[in-house]
Amino acid sequence: MLGFLASHTGTNMQAIIDAIKEGRLDAKACAVISNNSNSVALERARNEGIPAYHISSKKYPDEQDLDNAIINALKENGVDTVILAGYMKKLSPRVIQAFKGRVLNIHPALLPKFGGKGLYGMYVHEAVIEAGEKVSGATVHLVDEHYDHGRILNQRTVEVAPDDTPETLAQKVLKIEHQLYVETLQKIASGEIQI
Ligand code: GRF
Repeated sequence: MLGFLASHTGTNMQAIIDAIKEGRLDAKACAVISNNSNSVALERARNEGIPAYHISSKKYPDEQDLDNAIINALKENGVDTVILAGYMKKLSPRVIQAFKGRVLNIHPALLPKFGGKGLYGMYVHEAVIEAGEKVSGATVHLVDEHYDHGRILNQRTVEVAPDDTPETLAQKVLKIEHQLYVETLQKIASGEIQI
């Protein structure tokens, strides 16, 4: 019973939804929340007939109201596992507590390297290339109160080619993210990975 939080394009979310539809992942997509009313992620959810919610701090200036709106939208739809898929807001401890140990995120690098505050999106790939890394990848991890810090559940690597730019590296990593997220969720569903 998956609930997604996504801020932008939601390609990871779509990859997971497609895997469910194609019978490659034993799960159900129950709700999608975005802080961004114009996000492609919300559009994708509506196209798929999945309950879609725009929940932002503009709509809910009080932090506790915002948390409650997120928790209620997820719980009302039977969500037991929260999937962060390009969600650009820090999840409050209250929301994490409400789904204790069952909030997952994907990060576009091999944590614990290249993670933490400020290391998101293209900044991650810029840092990887600047550091001269020969290998990068993606990490699925549990979410706790600190950025990119919770238990690592699964990783996959990609080679960094000498002529890679942050943009080409981002494309390569995003491709494996889609596979890695689905594979990790299926391993959780089958009990191979325990959360
Ligand atoms: C991905 O690179 C993910 O690692 C990061 O945000 C990006 C989301 O992409 N957390 P998308 O919205 O799933 O296309």
